[in-house]
Order: sequence, then C-alpha cells, then structure tokens
Amino acid sequence: MTKAGLFLTFEGIDGSGKSTQARILADRLRAQGHEVVLTREPGGSPGAEEIRSLVLEGDPERWSAETEILLFTAARRDHLERTIEPALAAGKVVICDRFADSTRMYQGLSRGDLRSLVDQLHSLMIGREPDMTLLIDMDPETGLSRAKGRQGTEERFEDFGPELQTKMRAGFLALADEFSGRFRIVDGNRDMDSVARNVTEVVQAALR
Ligand code: ADP
Ligand code: TYD
Repeated sequence: MTKAGLFLTFEGIDGSGKSTQARILADRLRAQGHEVVLTREPGGSPGAEEIRSLVLEGDPERWSAETEILLFTAARRDHLERTIEPALAAGKVVICDRFADSTRMYQGLSRGDLRSLVDQLHSLMIGREPDMTLLIDMDPETGLSRAKGRQGTEERFEDFGPELQTKMRAGFLALADEFSGRFRIVDGNRDMDSVARNVTEVVQAALR
C-alpha cells in the first residue's frame, strides 16, 4: 500500500448492516497487518460526537432542514480535520460508517429537494470524496425491522416509515450510478458471513 492511505466508506439505509460490516472488515484488515481507523458519522472526533447528540436526539422538529445540513457539515469538517486526514496522511486505512453521501440522501432528499444546497456546502467545506464507497443494498422493510430492533435515545430519524426507506434505497442506487467510479454495490439481503466475504473481496481488489 502507498503512504497515501485508503479512505473507505459504508453507505445504505438504516439497518442495512453497515456498522456490522465495517467492524468485520476492520478486524480482517488488521489481521492482515494493515493499520486501520474505524470511525463513523455523525461523529468520529470529540467535537463531532457532541454535534451527533444535537442532531440525533430530541424533538424531530428541533432543527430546520437548512440548519441540519450545517450541523452535519460542521461535524464532518471536524471529523475530517482531526481524525480522517491525519490517519490517511500516516498511510492508514480509514473505514467510515456513513459520510457525505448520507447527507446527499437524508438532508438532500427527505425534507424537500435540497441536494444542490448540500453539494454547494460540501464543495466549500469538505471537498473530498472517499476512494471507495460500499453501498449495502437492502430490502427497505427488512432494514426497517432490523433498525427498529435497537433501543436507544438517538430517535430523531427513527420514525422514518417504509416509504422513506424505499425512497432512500432508490436514492442510494441512483447515487451509485452518479458516482460509479467509486461506488461498489453489495447485496445486503444475505447472512452476515456471505456479505462480509463479498465486502472483503471488493476491498482486497482495491488494496492490490
Ligand atoms: P446499520 O449500521 O446499517 O444500521 P447494523 O450493522 O447496526 O446496521 O445492523 C442492524 C441489525 O441487524 C443489528 O442488530 C445486526 O446485528 C443485524 N444484522 C446485520 N447484518 C445482518 C445480516 N446480514 N443478517 C441478519 N442480521 C443482520
Ligand atoms: P447511524 O448511526 O449510522 O444510524 P443507522 O445505524 O441506523 O444507519 O446514523 C444515524 C442517523 O443519522 C441515520 O438515520 C442517518 C442520519 N444521517 C443523516 O441524516 N445525515 C448524515 O449526513 C449522516 C452521516 C447520518
């Protein structure tokens, strides 16, 4: 591997298995001797984790759509400066559970058509894309029932019904088409081990 590091992201609807697959991939790459930073958004640095509580907890109407875009972007900027860029500069593999594609989908599509605002702010303040994005594609109903099985206080987005999950799934597939150079689609409707084998194959090809 070159000293430039490798920036990998997982994307997909809630409950598609991103966190599970990110963890398994990190373990496998570490076992092969790679230095891996496993991180997530919103969050991944102390400041961004504080913003995470602001955006994921409390009243669903707490923020306007525009303020929410600013908060997710502020969290991402901090995460990039403090965690992602230093790790990549040190030649590490960064595996991130969600990144800017999630803002393109959730803030760009779910509360009106704000995609162009999201893109403008991204190019002003973030200005970089992952080397590779693994989209875990998943049946929306199954994803929803898996996500609802979790208990917690991060509930602002948990009321998403099947309709929005379906819209998000289609949106992610369209995004994979738009950024076909870096996206790889993985079928998430299988047992964990089969999905993990597929993810490992795809990433090994990139590492070679
Ligand atoms: P995400 O991060 O995409 O929301 P998670 O990795 O947290 O998804 O998975 C959501 C739930 O589904 C967890 O309880 C996890 O153990 C379970 N899960 C993940 N992958 C699979 C799979 N391939 N088959 C069945 N259950 C799974
Ligand atoms: P996450 O913890 O990954 O939830 P899950 O495991 O259910 O997929 O993300 C929490 C929520 O934050 C999720 O509903 C998607 C949302 N989100 C956005 O709306 N915009 C963003 O930019 C990001 C990174 C996440």
